[in-house]
Amino acid sequence: MIQVAVMGHGVVGSGVVEVLENHRDSIAKRAKEEINIKYILDIREFPDSPYASKFTKNFDDILNDEEVKVVAEVMGGVHPAYDFTKACLLAGKSVVTSNKELVATKGAELLSIAREKNVNYFFEASVGGGIPIIRPINQCLAANEFVEIAGILNGTTNFILTKMIKDSMSFEDALKMAQQLGYAERNPEADVEGHDACRKIAILASLCYGKHIYPELVHTNGITKITLDDVAYADVWGGVIKLIGQVMRLEDGRVEISVEPMILSRDSQLANVDDVFNGILVRGDATGDVVFYGKGAGKLPTASAVVADIIDSVKHLKTRKYLYWDDGDASLVRPYEETVYPVMIRAASDDKASALSKVSEYFDGVKQIVRADESEGVFAFTTSEISVKDADNAVAELEKSGVKVLSRIRISDL
Ligand code: HSE
Repeated sequence: MIQVAVMGHGVVGSGVVEVLENHRDSIAKRAKEEINIKYILDIREFPDSPYASKFTKNFDDILNDEEVKVVAEVMGGVHPAYDFTKACLLAGKSVVTSNKELVATKGAELLSIAREKNVNYFFEASVGGGIPIIRPINQCLAANEFVEIAGILNGTTNFILTKMIKDSMSFEDALKMAQQLGYAERNPEADVEGHDACRKIAILASLCYGKHIYPELVHTNGITKITLDDVAYADVWGGVIKLIGQVMRLEDGRVEISVEPMILSRDSQLANVDDVFNGILVRGDATGDVVFYGKGAGKLPTASAVVADIIDSVKHLKTRKYLYWDDGDASLVRPYEETVYPVMIRAASDDKASALSKVSEYFDGVKQIVRADESEGVFAFTTSEISVKDADNAVAELEKSGVKVLSRIRISDL
């Protein structure tokens, strides 16, 4: 029998315990060992839990128990998860996690400790919730050069945008629903400001390109400024607004990487990924496009991936599976200002006719989007491809001439 510990008893942690206990027999068959939860670490009291006897508030109980071979870290956040994970790996225990913040910020270091100690550090649940994506990239698609990865990587924001698009629900009401359903982070700012998706695309990029791409190198914009008006103009244009994490390999060896709201044509493979679902498109040079789809957040989908990592760790207690990337630095990433794409701009002016003529002075390929019920003085248009830097300058000029730019959203060719 293999003893394991689960650190954290929140949404994901309680799901991990539930799945391990409810599927005890089938998991034992697959792992070829019975798996027993010896400890559950949490600072809170759970006197009514059927697993009350397993709870501890003392991390040292887990660290100093040589019987514990695998630890699931499902606490979230960097501290104390980082210190606990590092201590477990140094003590020769394998660690599995759903903690994308920790993997995205400390992955290179923790993977290197795991390698040194000949144990495993697995994080299938850190990206895409229940969707298998880390192993497919690391193993099944390993023969490819990764040309591009683009995905809807945050269930909460996709849920909110879907409610805005389909039900004209307000941002605030949709966020409340997502929190009640257990999708959102403890601090939902991480979801709505794009930080969660940023960590996930940073993990996928590091895995694909073999060097740590840190979250602070990823240009990140969330969905808090997206309005129902933007959604309506995008609809007239023929598309939907989605929060997309994207990384592309450039010819000079660097990458272009960002998280931002993008307008996707309704024909895009990602346009119909709705509600809490995530969709991840991996473009390999040999495979072409491979698309992964499933529930990207929630208790049991995420627990499913954590438990699969526990099983894999138990099956590989004496061997390290190859999952690794080197440390990286800012030279890997092209400055975002150099990125080129068409945009949709929503603007306001008291004199709409003259504002529209000014727009064509500063942007090429201007096409107005006409909405039947648009507000007085408000208009929207699309442009041809323009660099972020040139678009910044054009917007500044437009504003100097008295036109107020209300929003600027990337149009994607995905
Ligand atoms: N808050 C995250 C999301 C949870 O909404 O996608 C899963 O990582």
